[in-house]
This record gives sequence, structure tokens and C-alpha cells, in this order.
Amino acid sequence: MDKVSILKEKIKEAHLGGGVKRIESQHKKGKLTARERLLLLLDEGSFEEIGMLVTHRSRDFHMENETYLGDGVVTGYGTVNGRQVYVYSQDFTVFGGSLSETHAEKIVKIMDLAAQNGAPLIGLNDSGGARIQEGVVSLGGYADIFHRNVKASGVIPQISAIMGPCAGGAVYSPAITDFIMMVENTSYMFVTGPNVVKTVTHETVTSEELGGANTHASKSGVTHFACANEVECIENIKNLLSYMPQNCEDDAPVYPYEAGNETREALNSIIPENPNQPYDIKDVIAEITDEDSFLEVHKQWAENIVVGFARIGGRSIGIVANQPAYLAGVLDNNASRKGARFTRFCDAFNIPLLVLVDVPGFLPGTDQEWQGIIINGAKLLYALSEATVPKITVITRKAYGGAYDVMNSKHIGADMNYAWPTAEIAVMGAKGASEIIFKKEISEAADQYSKIAEKEAEYIEKFANPYVAAARGFVDEVILPEATRAKLIKAFKMLENKVVVNPKRKHGNVPL
Ligand code: COA
Repeated sequence: MDKVSILKEKIKEAHLGGGVKRIESQHKKGKLTARERLLLLLDEGSFEEIGMLVTHRSRDFHMENETYLGDGVVTGYGTVNGRQVYVYSQDFTVFGGSLSETHAEKIVKIMDLAAQNGAPLIGLNDSGGARIQEGVVSLGGYADIFHRNVKASGVIPQISAIMGPCAGGAVYSPAITDFIMMVENTSYMFVTGPNVVKTVTHETVTSEELGGANTHASKSGVTHFACANEVECIENIKNLLSYMPQNCEDDAPVYPYEAGNETREALNSIIPENPNQPYDIKDVIAEITDEDSFLEVHKQWAENIVVGFARIGGRSIGIVANQPAYLAGVLDNNASRKGARFTRFCDAFNIPLLVLVDVPGFLPGTDQEWQGIIINGAKLLYALSEATVPKITVITRKAYGGAYDVMNSKHIGADMNYAWPTAEIAVMGAKGASEIIFKKEISEAADQYSKIAEKEAEYIEKFANPYVAAARGFVDEVILPEATRAKLIKAFKMLENKVVVNPKRKHGNVPL
């Protein structure tokens, strides 16, 4: 065979991964191959592969007789909607996508290129974990990857898609990346699988129950997105990237936007008459952001807070919003963690923040206290407080107690604080407040019910409004709800050149 033909043969061989049979078996499981996934993810013809001819170096267990070009991972670079990305895609058809020393080296090479050239890293995971035949060199390979994930954190966006098994130590690379998406029914993540669980805790549980997409999307919050299938998952990665800059020194892409009538009259009547009645904060988000631009993150987990990306006047923003339609929008452990993590991503990548406030306070109870609501609540406070991106707050209704401070109050560095006329900024709800401070008067009254009502009305008159805060300048402007979108477009534009110089330090000590 001539030299050109030899190379052509090698390329053909590499493209077949573990062979036709194993590709068929992959398809039978409803899964695409590593290369098919990359074809869907990257712009046509943009993929450049690196390390196609790499093979493992293992000589134990007769492994020298079984080598595959590429060694179970396809790595390289390409573009998504014209923007540079670095990718690796694990090939389950080669030793179950397991991670050998050389497999890890290929990923590490891509990670270094991504970090040095300032472009997102996307990992498509489908792997049986550490290459069992290789032992500790495989574990070393994982650690090399983890270390780079950490070093690249906050420098370039890192996205992990889980499209098959991801177990044991392998879970910690995705865990450190910024966003995880999982595919329903064909992917799972756990530190130890059902068999070990059975032995150690005597629990009987399926892989799906223990660590499937829906479990991690709704129970643990480990995954940010659960996708119905692989195609949806890949589309979701592309959509997510559209809100982000390439790296921490870049700005997110600005989409074309034609100014029009920005008044949204529907917002004037969105808050119910009765302050204890819920409404859906996502209806507010839909009105104030550019049409169909909201991408919700962590949709099924800690639903009492809503976080996600959107565009306003064509610009990317991150939204953190209390959700009165779920647990009255109260802040609890998970909601605080969810809000904090999202806030820190936005701040790391220059994405301005919009905080919508309707919060009755922190959730009381032993469960919450024993799970550390003090520390978890502090995470959200810390994250919003340390963020130096433009930060705007809109108080739609309740802003009670410590939660008022936490939810991007003026005092912790928000740039613009708006309130709707329906805002109630107070230490607590009028009923609870009047029962405490007017306890004596109420107990001495002949008609206690009328007295409570009278005192409650007095408290509402005095504090359950935005005007006391506005008089102090804690609220910059009380606005008509219908004007919110117009105000936000102008205010984010006004803040686009914001610069904050922090004192020198190694890093802050966020309460973890
Ligand atoms: N190291 C080396 N080879 C591995 C492997 C690993 N960690 N995991 C899977 N493989 C190989 C299998 O030997 C099999 O090889 P073959 O095609 O030559 O038969 C192939 O990958 C596919 O694995 P298989 O078990 O047939 O697929 P499955 O879909 O039924 O199960 C797993 C997938 C991941 C659940 C199963 O392979 C497994 O439990 N692997 C070990 C996981 C583990 O303990 N990893 C080490 C700790 S991190």
C-alpha cells in the first residue's frame, strides 16, 4: 500500500472506533456515537481533530493486542454558530469510553488549548470510568483533568453533557464545570452504583432512580438541564453558549435588536389584590425580556427561586427571581445554593444581573436550620454582594426581613433598585408584625379581632409600601410596572461600562 493509502486506511479505522458491531449496539441503546454527536454540535465542516492516532500504552492483561486508534475519545476544536469551541467526546464503543492514561492526555491537551486561547470547553461524557486494566495511571489522568477544570474555572465557560454512564471519580470533572446537562433514560451519574449501594446501605435502587437525569434535575440539583434526547441536549448546549462570552475578559454576544414600544401594560395587573395569593414570576420575566429569550437553568430544582439567562434589548443578562408560585417564593437551603451558584457564573463571565424580588423571608424550621440555612443563605448574600457586574433589582411585592438585604439590596452593592407600587419592604408581613409590636394593646382590647385589623392596617400604611425605602434612597425609583422593561433597557445600557476595583487579595472565602 502506498503511504497516502496507509493514512487513509488509518483515518477510516479511527472513524470506526470500537467497530461496526459496537456502533450498532450503541445505536440500539438509543445513543449516538461520539462522532455523530460532534457532527450535530459543531458547524458543518468546522471540526478539526487532534490526536486521532493516539493509542493506549497498557501492556497488562494482553492489552497490547487490543488497541484502537483514538483510544476512546475524539478530541479537537471547531465552531458553534461561528464561535470557537474546544471539544472532547468519549467513545463508548472503545473499552466503554473508559479513561486510560492516553485518553486523559488527549483531554488535557484540549483543555490546555481552550484555557490558553480563551474559548469554551465542551465535554460529551459517555464512559465506564477509569480504565480498569490501567489502575493508578488512569486515576492520575482523572486528577490531571480535575486540576485543569479548577484552573479554568471562571476563565472559560465549561459545559458537560452526560450522554451515557458517568460514575465514580469521573463525576468530579462535570461537577466542577459550569453547567451539566443529562439525557433522560440513557445517562446516569453517581459516585457509587446500585450494586455498591445495595452492599453498603442495603437499599435497592435502579441506576435511573439513583442518578438518572430526572433525579439529578429535581432531587439533587447536580444537573442544570434534563434533556429528552441527545439531539435536544446538543441544541441546548448551543443555545446556552449564545448567552456567554468566550472567556472572562470578553463580553457576551449582542443580538440585533430594534427598539419599539417597550410598554408592557399586562404587568400593571399581574400582582393579585391579596398579598398572600401567588402569581408566576415567569410571566413577569416573559414580559420584561426579549421575546422567547429566557433560558431557564435548574428548572425542576428549588423551584421557589427561578434562575436563567435572557436578553434585554439584545444583551445577555442573568436573572435571579423569587417565585411566589412555589412555596410563596421563600428562600431555603436549595434556593440559596441555586441562586448563589448562578450569580457567581454570571459575575465570572461579565453577564449583568437582574434580581426580581418577591420574598417573604427564609423558610423556618429544624429541617432548614439543621441543613445549614445560615451558611447556605450566606452563599447567596455573598455571591450577590461580591458580584461586580451591573446589578439591577426590581421589587415586585414582598421584600421582608434579612431576605430583603440578601436579594440584591442597595446596601450590598446593587446599582439600580426599582420597586413597583405594590412593593412591601418591611421587617416582616403586616399581620405578624402588628401581633408582636401591638401585643399588649391587642390583648387589652374588648374586640381583639377589630384591634388586630386596625393595627395591621396601621402597619401596612406605615411600612408595607415602597415609599419609606424610596425616601431613604434604598430604592432609586418607584416605577409603574408597565415601564419596567423600558427602564431596564436604559439602565443596563447606562451601566455597560461599569468598573469596580477590588482590594488585592488571593480570593474571598465564600461560605461553602
Ligand atoms: N475499563 C475498561 N473497560 C471497560 C470499562 C472500564 N472501566 N467499562 C466498560 N468497559 C468495556 C467492557 O469491558 C466492554 O468491553 P467489550 O465491548 O470488549 O465487551 C465495553 O466496555 C462495554 O461495556 P459493557 O459492560 O458491555 O456495557 P454496559 O452498557 O452493559 O455497561 C457499565 C456499562 C459502565 C455500567 C459497565 O461497563 C461497568 O460497570 N463498567 C465498570 C465501571 C467501573 O467500575 N469503572 C471503574 C471505576 S470509575
